[in-house]
Amino acid sequence: MIPVIHKFPTSESAAAAVAELILENAVSKKNANKYYNIAVSGGKTPKYLFSILAEIPEFRVEIPWENIRFFWVDERCVEPTNEESNYGMTYDALLQYAFIPAQNVFRMKGEDIPENEAERYRGVLLKELPAKNGMPIFDLVLLGIGEDGHAASIFPDQMRLLDTENSVETAVHPTSGQRRITLTGNTIHEAEKVVFLITGGSKAEIISEIIHQKDGFEAYPASYMYDAKGQAHFFIDEASAVFL
Ligand code: 6PG
Repeated sequence: MIPVIHKFPTSESAAAAVAELILENAVSKKNANKYYNIAVSGGKTPKYLFSILAEIPEFRVEIPWENIRFFWVDERCVEPTNEESNYGMTYDALLQYAFIPAQNVFRMKGEDIPENEAERYRGVLLKELPAKNGMPIFDLVLLGIGEDGHAASIFPDQMRLLDTENSVETAVHPTSGQRRITLTGNTIHEAEKVVFLITGGSKAEIISEIIHQKDGFEAYPASYMYDAKGQAHFFIDEASAVFL
């Protein structure tokens, strides 16, 4: 994986830069009469981004929302109203403002039986997205990274999810035991662009290990998260870049 580093002074400016990337790509897709198909991660970091998209007029007004279709990188197997839900977090921060047509939102149903939902979502991706090597192609996959080097819901003890032939699989959080639905490594590898949004000092060590390929980096799933060009764009802030 070739990390392409985009460093910004603050977490807000890093998130704003990702918002700008989404704006630019959504407009060019609209001009080509195409959808901009993006898969978003959950956790705390994307909240900055989703709030910027919803609250800053440049984005709220300029983005052609009818051309953006939202999919998820992963989901916790909980009700969408549960505070743990990635969809729920995205709804609260962005989707509730409804400028995104409901038909453009393809949530993973965390409330359903994980195996059944993984199969259903595989079908959704096959139906809605172009494919290559049997894997759906996203225009953008937006990832975060855990301090243990996980990304999506692919954890260090479940590395097989990096190269399974299924586009979507179930997973289990290694400490909480929480069940998850996740895109797999091979789906992520077909994406036009993989972007990591990483902020805060707690991520400084892990991204340094991955970017500098320090001893043991091979054990981190995030080390294998790259797009069809073999690249991963790291949008990071000063705090997370201290060891670079
Ligand atoms: C999830 C995410 C996960 C997340 C990382 C970082 O469902 O939790 O998809 O992969 O991106 O755990 O989470 P934070 O942004 O909260 O640090």
